[in-house]
Amino acid sequence: MSTSNAEVVSVPSKLGLIAEPWSPGIVASLNGQEVKLVRLEGAFVWHKHDDADELFYVLEGSFRMEFRDGSSSVRAVELGVGDLIVVPRGVEHRPVADDACSVMLFEPAGVVNTGDGPASGQTNAAVRL
Ligand code: NI
Repeated sequence: MSTSNAEVVSVPSKLGLIAEPWSPGIVASLNGQEVKLVRLEGAFVWHKHDDADELFYVLEGSFRMEFRDGSSSVRAVELGVGDLIVVPRGVEHRPVADDACSVMLFEPAGVVNTGDGPASGQTNAAVRL
């Protein structure tokens, strides 16, 4: 087996290439999944992904993941550096970062960040960093 395509990725260096919040950058691909880095800032749009579970792993700062189930009740969990959470497919959610936060995402290739939510300035295709 050749390892010529196996390259070390510096996550801090890649994070430094991302200036805008909610603009995911792809740093690795494997088994049909993509590893992305994204900066969170403020409240994201409510949305869900019908066909994709979505993993968030906190690299810097902290954020709150809010969930709602169609009723008005909202459940929120707080995540800090080193914490991760998997948002199950079909579950409506939105990340909210009161301060600057950077996360690593792990999800199937091609997932749109705003899911089934309305397209907006927060809707950004992931680019390869
Ligand atoms: Ni999502």
